[in-house]
Amino acid sequence: MKLLVTGGAGFIGSNFVHHMVESGKGDGIVVLDKLTYAGRPENIDGLDVELVEGDICDRDLVRGLVDRVDAVVNFAAESHVDRSIESPGEFITTDVFGTFVLLEAARDAGIRHLQISTDEVYGSIDRGSFTEASPIVPSSPYSASKAGGDLIVGAFQHTYGADTLIARASNNYGPQQHPEKLIPLAVLNALHGDPIPVYGDGSQVRNWLFVRDFCTAIERVLDQGEAGQVYNVGGPDELPNIEVVEAILELTGRDESLIEHVGDRLGHDVRYSLASEKTEGLGWQAAVGFREGIARTVEWYRENEAWWGPLRSGEYREYYQRQYGQALAE
Ligand code: NAD
Ligand code: TYD
Repeated sequence: MKLLVTGGAGFIGSNFVHHMVESGKGDGIVVLDKLTYAGRPENIDGLDVELVEGDICDRDLVRGLVDRVDAVVNFAAESHVDRSIESPGEFITTDVFGTFVLLEAARDAGIRHLQISTDEVYGSIDRGSFTEASPIVPSSPYSASKAGGDLIVGAFQHTYGADTLIARASNNYGPQQHPEKLIPLAVLNALHGDPIPVYGDGSQVRNWLFVRDFCTAIERVLDQGEAGQVYNVGGPDELPNIEVVEAILELTGRDESLIEHVGDRLGHDVRYSLASEKTEGLGWQAAVGFREGIARTVEWYRENEAWWGPLRSGEYREYYQRQYGQALAE
């Protein structure tokens, strides 16, 4: 099966491309990626896949590529909650309209569209876990734009009988994640001895999933998933943010003096938790627990300064100053 992997130069998309190539299923993969600040061609360097630089909102480009493949896996998105709070417009364009452009092309070509989505579309949950039947109640501009994409996916299936699927994952972590996200940010700041900004009291809970475990789930859903269905993919461990940061401090030989509690994120979701029984019913199981996954992740960042070094300057440095400069200076 030849795949069009959109957003395949980003964090999860590139891990998925590596996974497919390593599994001997990489033949004919075409990656379409706009190469925003989050897209890095080096994430898929050395792999025998075609990289097309372009926008999923470009209808002509998308149609031409969709006609060459057997299925679309859509990772392309603006993906960071804090940036969506600062500037939501691009999230609506890519995550909603871009999804529509892909869906229309896939429907017309009669091929499968697998939408990569997030637990954040369900909103926050104090107790228990979200199932695929839970209501969609997103809270941030990011999660609302992802929910918009998911709803259009559902509408294309219901209205046109399009062959669509949605995989909703909990928080991913692992190699090649941009340092704007909590785990790589904390790892790199700890390695440098810089303060680690923790929003509020750090009691918010996330359900951590090692990225390669999400990749195996995506492969299952793509191969065995039933058209029109949603599949939740949650990680094996739930931790408050403060415990995540403490684990990173321990692994990097730093102490808690680096923790800097800063003002809370606007509209901060308190807890995410996913029930994954439906995906487990396809024979999937997460293989990597948090303790092992975070150790592997810290090790990867230690060994790959050539990857993250350039990110510590330029666009990310400016973003970091806007996001944290004042709070960390106080
Ligand atoms: P990322 O920001 O690392 O990568 C996104 C990629 O999409 C980048 O390579 C970027 O260049 C590309 N892109 C952005 N706009 C584009 C456009 N208009 N056209 C083509 N390419 C475009 O994000 P990620 O963390 O790898 O997330 C991938 C997908 O998984 C997203 O859809 C996200 O919503 C979803 N997701 C992420 C997580 C997580 O914890 N990171 C959890 C659940 C779901
Ligand atoms: P993040 O990695 O941005 O993922 P998401 O918002 O999609 O869950 O954040 C994970 C958690 O960490 C979230 O509760 C917000 C918190 N956080 C901080 O406390 N400090 C930070 O600097 C960042 C980026 C996140």
